[in-house]
Amino acid sequence: MKILITGGAGYIASHTNVELLKENYELVLVDNFSNSVYESVARVEKISGKKVKFYEADLKDFEAINKVFQAEKDIYAVIHFAALKAVGESVEKPLEYYENNISGSLNLYKAMKIHGVKNFVFSSSATVYGDPDEIPVKETAKIGATNPYGHTKAMMEQILIDSAKAYGWNVVILRYFNPVGAHDSGLIGEDPEYPANLLPFVSQVAAGIREKVVVFGSDWNTPDGTGVRDYIHVVDLAKAHVKAIEKLKKDQGTFIYNIGTGRGYSVLEMIRAFGKACGHDVPFVVGPRRPGDVAEVLADPAKAEKELGYKAELGLDEMVSSAWKWQKLNPKGYKK
Ligand code: NAD
Ligand code: WQD
Repeated sequence: MKILITGGAGYIASHTNVELLKENYELVLVDNFSNSVYESVARVEKISGKKVKFYEADLKDFEAINKVFQAEKDIYAVIHFAALKAVGESVEKPLEYYENNISGSLNLYKAMKIHGVKNFVFSSSATVYGDPDEIPVKETAKIGATNPYGHTKAMMEQILIDSAKAYGWNVVILRYFNPVGAHDSGLIGEDPEYPANLLPFVSQVAAGIREKVVVFGSDWNTPDGTGVRDYIHVVDLAKAHVKAIEKLKKDQGTFIYNIGTGRGYSVLEMIRAFGKACGHDVPFVVGPRRPGDVAEVLADPAKAEKELGYKAELGLDEMVSSAWKWQKLNPKGYKK
């Protein structure tokens, strides 16, 4: 069964590709390498011992993506990872974010419609909840994104819901919480030039690439005063996509799921756990709060468990030790 993966060379896609190949899906990947390199695809093939088909194409170019659908006749489903994803950058460059994430997705949807592809899995984000009223957050919570990146995700969800109704598509929207960690082979992982997220930053400090972590505020209303998040191991997250494809095979409609663990860790707990994994304390200082941050975000993962039979299994130790293994084995990421 053939699956088209957009953003197929990226961090979460690479791990998902490994899980899908394990289940014998045939993969067609599309990426424009705006935030990735081909080496991740080669490494997925190495881990799985299987080949994938790869197209270098930009979703902003309708003809380029349409050609992929023309060449690949029998696509069963699309998993749509391709997006720009840095919250801070999206505030600086909103038009780039809207153009890439919205126009790019519209081109993809138009091509799907033309070629009669009706099954779809979307990479959404806890960011669509903004600062949620109730913790843990249920899928029924109000949508209240607080930055352009989050708005693009909320808009894409709405466009999908409307298109599914009009064109008879089946859609699974996965709202990821905070993905971290790497494959246990140490061959694939997150490869940011300048990390926007906590764990890759901690990892680069642990490796001596950066001097110290700045903790964004210690006066939050949380047990130790630092921000609490629902971190999920990227391999667990990858497996949710296999479940989503299985759901599309069984049921018709549009389905939305939180993908998290329901368990939160503070910034200080993450730094301490990382120190244990790498064998030395990770230096940090407490700085001011980051604009737009919230005290605590936790998923209610019950709906995914009930309807997808999905439950994250890996804990904090596996998250930090796999991230450290990736960092140690690939001090320059995928660059040789
Ligand atoms: P990533 O940057 O590693 O992967 C995205 C991939 O899409 C990259 O390889 C990039 O080159 C590609 N891409 C971007 N725009 C494209 C375009 N116009 N045409 C073709 N390819 C394009 O990011 P990731 O962390 O793997 O995120 C994957 C998805 O998950 C994104 O949609 C992101 O918004 C979503 N998400 C990520 C997180 C997170 O913290 N990492 C959390 C929630 C949701
Ligand atoms: C985690 C905690 C920070 C960096 C973001 C996006 C969200 C989703 C996941 C894509 C917070 C603190 C961080 C640092 C720190 N991405 N922190 N020092 O903000 O929960 O979520 O990534 O969809 O949309 O908003 O993740 O990793 O940036 O922060 O103290 O150098 O770590 O304040 O409490 P966040 P994060």
